[in-house]
Amino acid sequence: MFPKAGTCLDVAHHVSRPSRPTAAVIKSPPGAAQRAATRLGCPRARGKGKTVADEQELAESQRRHWQDTYAAHPGMYGEEPSEPAVHAVAAFRTAGAQDVLELGAGHGRDALFFAREGFTVQATDFSPVGLEQLRDVARSQGVDERVTTAVHDVREPLALPDASVDAVFAHMLLCMALSTKEIHALVAEVRRVLRPGGVFVYTVRHTGDAHYGAGTAHGDDIFEHGGFAVHFFGRGLVDALADGWALNEVHAFEEGELPRRLWRVTQTLPR
Ligand SMILES: C[S@@+](CC[C@H](N)C(=O)[O-])C[C@H]1O[C@@H](n2cnc3c(N)ncnc32)[C@H](O)[C@@H]1O
Repeated sequence: MFPKAGTCLDVAHHVSRPSRPTAAVIKSPPGAAQRAATRLGCPRARGKGKTVADEQELAESQRRHWQDTYAAHPGMYGEEPSEPAVHAVAAFRTAGAQDVLELGAGHGRDALFFAREGFTVQATDFSPVGLEQLRDVARSQGVDERVTTAVHDVREPLALPDASVDAVFAHMLLCMALSTKEIHALVAEVRRVLRPGGVFVYTVRHTGDAHYGAGTAHGDDIFEHGGFAVHFFGRGLVDALADGWALNEVHAFEEGELPRRLWRVTQTLPR
């Protein structure tokens, strides 16, 4: 069980502001950045030749980047819940869920909303700085009794027993710097900890996003822009991750500046 409870030139793309049409975005065709970097012998153009050490290095640099970003911009996503969290509350209630596991909760705009709505929440992230901000706000909002936090890297197995939670939520977490193999392993873990009939709501940036193909290519559809590495999802990956689940919905939406283009996916375990 979980215990109780920098420099970021591109941070504007990650804060919560009303969506608006894309202004000046330099977009390369899919795969162009990877091909160009490979031609130039750039050590970051890894793709198929990527080693475990390369993946580890990327993961560590991403953790540092998120730590620095939350430290420099406390509460950067704002206090209002995201649109997918509002959707998730309705889906969780319909399923009769009471406890929610959130992965990649950051400073907790959504975890705290779930708690205010009466759910018991276990919020995880690999950034202790983000989770500290979450706990501070949980106390000030008087919902700290219903929220626990745990520092956890989703590349590791979840520290929860089988069939122990009713619902799992992950907004913009599966599309972080995770390989396709790591994403499949993570969804297998989500499946393991969910009770039969459990609901999984997640969102990912997809290949229709303006940053797909731009910036530094890390292979496996992962591109780094402004220090943030993102795995852009194609529809085939969403369908593959729903194998053995009921895929209830794939909903396209936009969030924030740029805007980010995302899919909100809702899938349910058979009873
Ligand atoms: C785009 S932010 C979204 C934060 C939060 N879900 C929200 O929408 O307010 C992605 C979050 O995932 C976390 N993260 C990235 N890679 C992770 C990993 N491998 N394990 C756990 N958390 C990770 C980051 O620290 C960050 O808080």
